[in-house]
Amino acid sequence: MNIRRFRAGDLPHVIALFSASVHGLAGVHYDARQRTAWAPAEPDQKLWQARLEGQQTLIAEDEGVLTGFISWAPNGHIDLLFTAPQHARKGIASALCTQVEAALSATGITTAFTEASLVARPFFERRGFVMTEAQDLDRNGVRFRRYAMQKTLTARLPPEMPPLPEA
Ligand SMILES: CC(C)(COP(=O)(O)OP(=O)(O)OC[C@H]1O[C@@H](n2cnc3c(N)ncnc32)[C@H](O)[C@@H]1OP(=O)(O)O)[C@@H](O)C(=O)NCCC(=O)NCCS
Repeated sequence: MNIRRFRAGDLPHVIALFSASVHGLAGVHYDARQRTAWAPAEPDQKLWQARLEGQQTLIAEDEGVLTGFISWAPNGHIDLLFTAPQHARKGIASALCTQVEAALSATGITTAFTEASLVARPFFERRGFVMTEAQDLDRNGVRFRRYAMQKTLTARLPPEMPPLPEA
């Protein structure tokens, strides 16, 4: 697995992976109507571009094929975290999250926080995040349950942690 910074040319692949992930991995917890509202058939590229421009994004790839991505803000907010269905449960999201937690710690941030889907909650719990609030939100007219979660970051980086890839 190679982890690198997002490049502009990655956008269509990121959107495609997001859609595949929502429809392929979230079906256990969200019905078809919810998944379509979350990942519509015709995604808004401009909206995606604007969302990612305001954040940092890391890509995981395997032999040049995108397998996962994560985006976060400097204040500790982890926004997007998605793994391709055929690469799930291979440690990809863990590797991405470890990089981001280390990068946040290195800038003095002491708390990472996110809004986890029903699918992602056990993943974040496994990493030591705790649920602070159950939230019901409206997305394109459809109701969704998600969980606000947070984790206190340790100040020291694990010794094996490589520096965050350069842009
Ligand atoms: C949540 C998600 C990002 C996890 O990605 P992943 O690369 O499969 O995660 P990892 O392989 O690093 O998992 C690490 C551990 O987290 C836990 N975990 C991960 N996915 C899980 C699941 N679906 N159910 C229960 N536990 C899970 C397990 O303990 C796992 O370790 P194990 O495989 O040895 O049992 C992925 O399932 C996904 O993209 N889901 C759909 C989209 C989504 O909900 N994204 C998050 C938005 S907040």
